[in-house]
Amino acid sequence: MASSSQAVQSPPRHVAIVMDGNGRWARKRFMPRGMGHKAGVDALVKVVQATADRGIGYLTVFAFSSENWKRPEEEVSGLMSLLIVALSKYLAKLKDDGVRIRIAGDLDSVSDKVREALRGAERETQDNSRLVLTVAFNYGGRWDIVQACQRAMAAGLRPDQLDEQALAKFMTMNYAPDPDLFIRTGGEVRLSNFLLWQSAYAELFFTDCLWPDFDGAELDRALASFYARERRFGDVGTSGEGDGAIGVIEDVQPSSQGN
Ligand code: FPP
Repeated sequence: MASSSQAVQSPPRHVAIVMDGNGRWARKRFMPRGMGHKAGVDALVKVVQATADRGIGYLTVFAFSSENWKRPEEEVSGLMSLLIVALSKYLAKLKDDGVRIRIAGDLDSVSDKVREALRGAERETQDNSRLVLTVAFNYGGRWDIVQACQRAMAAGLRPDQLDEQALAKFMTMNYAPDPDLFIRTGGEVRLSNFLLWQSAYAELFFTDCLWPDFDGAELDRALASFYARERRFGDVGTSGEGDGAIGVIEDVQPSSQGN
């Protein structure tokens, strides 16, 4: 049987980013947290360009999680206003740059103004195809799996018709390949309920860089790490024995056995 493992040679098709560290970036400068988020928007616009320039077709960013409502009311409303200001400031540029904006998340529980701004950005850029930028907004990975199950049931799928492929069609980002590279800035080493289903085989890259400082050079560091990986997708990989022989137990190298 042909091996499903592969040395990474081409750019990731899809990069997902948890943009963490805005608050600390601001605090280091004795600024309010909102200034960190504002700087985070500017960083995002530059990273969108850098991603497109590197031939990556899909970028998905965690802009507001379903857990972010727990933040102080002032910060939540600041993020909502920032979203609207950011779209009015940058939408035309993103459109000119060939970026298609898509939204993943539960927009039923956001204000009409925010929902309209997000849907308007989707409509405005729907003919673009250079880079698909998915903004995960009021998004949670568990929410995504639950809504997919609900929609599959509503579509009348019987339990015996439900498998991974069938459910994947109901996930919010059914238009995108699964992320190959999952980046988290800001030093925390966790997934925080982002793209749980889609990131099953993503390569993970964690950096201490605070999001507003993330740029093309930092993206290149993440890509260099990605290119150094051997993606095995559960197979033994090119460093394995390759002949299907298991061998005596003393010969088994732990590094060639894990997933
Ligand atoms: C995490 O940093 C970041 C966020 C919760 C929001 C990310 C948003 C942007 C980059 C701006 C674009 C999005 C919108 C909604 C306009 P943190 O605040 O948790 O930072 P900390 O861990 O240093 O406190």
